Amino acid sequence: MNRVFSGIQPTGNLHLGNYLGAIRNWVTMQDAYDCIYCVVDLHAITNRQDPKVLRQGIREMAAALLASGIDPDRAILFNQSAVHAHAELAWVLMCTARVGWLDRMTQFKDRAGKDREGQSVGFYAYPVLQAADILAYKATHVPVGDDQKQHLELARDIAAKFNTDFGVALFPLPEPVIRGPATRVMSLRDGTSKMSKSDPSDASRINLTDTADAIAQKIKRARTDAEPLPSEAAGLAGRPEAANLVGLMAALTDSTIADVLRDHGGHGFGQFKPALADVMVSALAPISRRFNDLRGDSAALDAILAKGAARASAIADPVLAEVHRTVGFAS
Ligand code: TRP
Repeated sequence: MNRVFSGIQPTGNLHLGNYLGAIRNWVTMQDAYDCIYCVVDLHAITNRQDPKVLRQGIREMAAALLASGIDPDRAILFNQSAVHAHAELAWVLMCTARVGWLDRMTQFKDRAGKDREGQSVGFYAYPVLQAADILAYKATHVPVGDDQKQHLELARDIAAKFNTDFGVALFPLPEPVIRGPATRVMSLRDGTSKMSKSDPSDASRINLTDTADAIAQKIKRARTDAEPLPSEAAGLAGRPEAANLVGLMAALTDSTIADVLRDHGGHGFGQFKPALADVMVSALAPISRRFNDLRGDSAALDAILAKGAARASAIADPVLAEVHRTVGFAS
């Protein structure tokens, strides 16, 4: 049996990078798998959060996922803290994972920088909670960005060690489904850095809430070079901004870089940008319309999340009970 699990942090300000990079892929996977999608609020508090902002962020992320096409009647959509198995299994798995394994996690090292001592213990143990998220459902496939590859390998190591330590075949080893760098959307102001909600320049990103006019303006002002578009992909080498805009066109029209360059090779940006803006507006308009409707309806969002949490618990609780029996807990 194939089961997909993935998680996303409840950060506000959803942008095109989140949509094309992750969410759109989640939507497609609903057709082929049993999907469980989780807004990871337990992970969010590994860094300091304002409770009001967090509460709002959880609902906004749920609204964005629903607006993008996550269907709560098919996929299970919930927030992590509503299902107690995540935190409980994380504790057991923290006793399986080794300090040496966590010490090798590059994301922690990069984010902590020189201030390792000042990080929360939760932030250090973050990848173990992530393993628990996946293993609580015996998920087999985990769609993630390539920055999460190491965390997925850790989840596999934890699953394998638990199985060997106790001589069981309780956890399947989850397979990462890695999105290639092709779906990495870059800043409109600098083709070498990722589109990000924390970029101080709003012109660097397309927000899910941007109006058609704002989108057209941002694309018009997007940084480019002076050359016309090449007619083959090789001609994009060393032209990160051009490559980003062509990549966006390909992603939004479900075609390849080669297709886009076949149609637009030789054109200048004055011609290409309005075409890109049109495509972007028609892809995002229905999503931002639904998002704006949903985000104001907290009661409806809370009801969807509560139903998702109940369905998630129905899967995770028996797995947790199996873990309890395996490790020798009396309950
Ligand atoms: N750490 C992931 C990220 O930052 C989010 C996440 C939490 C996740 N738990 C997960 C992803 C479980 C996949 C599976 O993107």
